[in-house]
Amino acid sequence: MTSTAPASAPGTGRITVEKVGGRIGAVISGVRLGGDLDERTVAAIRAAVLEHKVVFLRDQHHLDAAGHEAFGRLLGEPVAHPTVPSVDGRYALGIDNDHGGRANQWHTDVTFVPAYPAFSILRAEVIPPYGGDTLWSNTAAAYAELPEPLRTLADGLRGVHTNDYDYAAVRPEAVPDELLQHREVFTSITFRTEHPVVRVHPETGERTLVLGTFLQRFTGLDGRDSRALRDVLQSHVERPENTVRWRWRAGDVAIWDNRATQHYGVDDSDDHERTLRRVTVDGDVPVGVDGRRSVLLAPESVPEPEYGIASGASTDGVLAEA
Ligand SMILES: [Fe+2]
Repeated sequence: MTSTAPASAPGTGRITVEKVGGRIGAVISGVRLGGDLDERTVAAIRAAVLEHKVVFLRDQHHLDAAGHEAFGRLLGEPVAHPTVPSVDGRYALGIDNDHGGRANQWHTDVTFVPAYPAFSILRAEVIPPYGGDTLWSNTAAAYAELPEPLRTLADGLRGVHTNDYDYAAVRPEAVPDELLQHREVFTSITFRTEHPVVRVHPETGERTLVLGTFLQRFTGLDGRDSRALRDVLQSHVERPENTVRWRWRAGDVAIWDNRATQHYGVDDSDDHERTLRRVTVDGDVPVGVDGRRSVLLAPESVPEPEYGIASGASTDGVLAEA
């Protein structure tokens, strides 16, 4: 299905939104991203992201670090990663394959803090000659396809997410040195946050699964039961029908709703350079089906980053003691 939205300004042509997969993903054409887009164009982009969960724009070669951040500001408040320093002294996070930070695990960005990012905007600078694709999954579709007994079970569950997860279990192939180096930075502060396993999306009202690699265990279950149940629920997220796979070109930009997706960076481009930049936009504290919000268990509050405000800093009323 192809849908179109009216052009934002005379002479700019029409914005088109074309689906890529049946349940997730669309390509937006007719937009030159930047901080100067008018309200109607921004609204059209936001609506497309909410509907299709991830959208792709080709040939945004003009976009530099400042323009990238300025565009992000049109979707919300940019936020810094809580532990990993930016690459531009402001908000841009480096997604490069020359260190241990390869994202070849299914995850939602920064779920170890309560108000994890609402949107992530990823811009491709250098793309390898082969490999390095990214996959996204629709976690609302994954929830919707659960058989009723599993949906009821998930509705009542809560899960603890941490950045100090078991790397060895998920990254057995990683080079120890680079792994240790990245891990040291990534876990310089250990975060633990309890989220509802099913959150009600604040903009669409959809129910989405909150799982992924940062999930350590379900509240009230031991490790073994947690792993078994997590595998059952997570398998619906990873079902190919709920996913889309993107073959990057330099100049591409992907924008996703981090509250309704997981993603996976395929680590198959050998030693070729792969350099992307990510700007994230502040989220909101998840609310479960029963109205209970997420709770920050550790540390007592999200510390100030080197620049700006940190992802998940909007923790009002979600401290464990509160
Ligand atoms: Fe990610």
